[in-house]
Amino acid sequence: METRTHAPDHRNALQVKSILGTESLKKDQLEKILDCAFYFRSLRDQGKPFPATLANKNTILLFFEASTRTRSSFALAAKNLGGNTVALTKEASSTSKGETLLDTARTIEAMRPDILVLRHPSAGSPHHLDKHLGIPVINAGDGFHEHPTQAFLDLMTIREFKGEMKGLKVLIVGDIAHSRVARSDTYALQTMGAEISVCGPPTLIPPQMERMKVKVFHDLEQAVQGQDVIIVLRVQLERLNPAQNPSPGEYSRFYGISAAIVEKCKKDVLIMHPGPVNRGVELSPDVADGPHSVILNQVGNGVLVRMAVLHLLTGGEPLKLKEDR
Ligand code: CP
Repeated sequence: METRTHAPDHRNALQVKSILGTESLKKDQLEKILDCAFYFRSLRDQGKPFPATLANKNTILLFFEASTRTRSSFALAAKNLGGNTVALTKEASSTSKGETLLDTARTIEAMRPDILVLRHPSAGSPHHLDKHLGIPVINAGDGFHEHPTQAFLDLMTIREFKGEMKGLKVLIVGDIAHSRVARSDTYALQTMGAEISVCGPPTLIPPQMERMKVKVFHDLEQAVQGQDVIIVLRVQLERLNPAQNPSPGEYSRFYGISAAIVEKCKKDVLIMHPGPVNRGVELSPDVADGPHSVILNQVGNGVLVRMAVLHLLTGGEPLKLKEDR
């Protein structure tokens, strides 16, 4: 028996049913999300009301991994657009009693929500649900695979501070192998024309980076030269095999971004981090809180890009500021 309760509808401005990753997104789709997010920022800064695109619409936040930024910003984004959210965690759902993810998702879909946001430790789980559900699915981070809305907020922050992304030099530092942020940022930034490099210990850089036209460094002082933006990744202690991983002290010595490293960077370098930060491991506190850091700007932009995605996926019209950037 057919279990879909809604017909898939790609008749939205992004021409996609779901947002599963940045690998398949084209420049015009990324531009529409950024334009809409900057439009919402302008409304917010002028104290004007947001459109009620999600009025009478329900968003399910299914988070099977911990999250502060992504979960709360999706909840705020939906609320800002007049919508309701219901949040479920693994512990508080019947998956803790043995129900499969798909059965859980189908059960939720039978209650007729409008959109499902999923964070899950298994790569490909949002794609699996997307195949079986009629409602849009947004990937809020799947294992080591992708975290597309993090990439959108990173693009927005880079555009805010650097303008045009074509030709911009962006370095991603840290545990590239276990990072869904590195993957989503690389695809999205390359689509926007940026030049991507990565730097980290050889055990934490996957071999396919060079095939992705990404320059690989293992020496941090060499890697930071001439970079416009440095995206520092969290050392994901919970995902690492201890045999592969340097100790936090050793990692910090060779790959930590300290004031001494910032001294070797361009004067206007932007320091970014998706959070949460391991202070004193991948980033020293003085740099995390220093003049080059835009970490809290990233967090604020997270609400705006998630509003843009919810608005556009649910049929909201493309929105764009009139004045030139
Ligand atoms: N950047 C990010 O995904 O943070 P959270 O895990 O807090 O959502």
